[in-house]
Amino acid sequence: MEIVVCKTKEEASRKAAAMITAAVQKNPRTVLGLATGSTPVLMYTEMAKAVKAKKVSYKQVKSWNLDEYVGLAGTHDQSYRYFMNKNLFEKIDIKISNTHVLNGLAKDFAKECASYEAAIKKAGGIDIQVLGIGSDGHIAFNEPGTSLSSRTSVVYLTPSTIKDNARLFFKGKEAEVPTRALSMGVGTICEAKKIILLAFGKGKADAVKGMVEGGVSQFCTASALQLHKDAWVFCDEEAASKLKLKKYYAWRSETILGA
Ligand code: PGA
Repeated sequence: MEIVVCKTKEEASRKAAAMITAAVQKNPRTVLGLATGSTPVLMYTEMAKAVKAKKVSYKQVKSWNLDEYVGLAGTHDQSYRYFMNKNLFEKIDIKISNTHVLNGLAKDFAKECASYEAAIKKAGGIDIQVLGIGSDGHIAFNEPGTSLSSRTSVVYLTPSTIKDNARLFFKGKEAEVPTRALSMGVGTICEAKKIILLAFGKGKADAVKGMVEGGVSQFCTASALQLHKDAWVFCDEEAASKLKLKKYYAWRSETILGA
């Protein structure tokens, strides 16, 4: 796992976006795995800037998102489909028909999840998977106690995730946040060829510490990335503040990126 420690989230977002832009320039048919939440927004803005400047095109790119709330239509302003359309898809030249988000209103969730996985496989697998990290160490909605080999399925949100996400719902009410979601599994995520995880702010410092320097454990599902051969963590100083070997990771990743 390479840990890129940046002074600010702006710098981290620029660096992560540059990695994606370069990959899409090299392979215009890149298959992306995408994430929602506050964390990737700046990176998406940077990606859109590169499209506007005609440095890169997403016309042939396909994408699959990590998760979606059960019970929310794609038109709901807190659904992850809505979020993706607003924060990225409408700002780049990707074909909407090439973008995929799990359907939180599907009648048969098992079928929805199985066909999502089959579609990813048919596309040749995910080349680059973007991730955030929850304050409880989750990736996608894979909460503590989830098997590290889990596949896309219905999952149950922890009280801490519901609390974290309530800020985005009607009047910040926890009761408004769905308690279930459809989510790619940890096993599904780890099959991506490359992983880019973003983590910003002191609220993520314990989760980042658990992911990087804790043992591999289902208590912190992000720790599964320790077993991935090409996982990159872009974080700011605050998110990296509890890492014992912070300076070493920063030097090593910079040396690799600069080489
Ligand atoms: P956030 O969410 O980017 O809104 O902090 C991250 C996550 O829960 O994965």
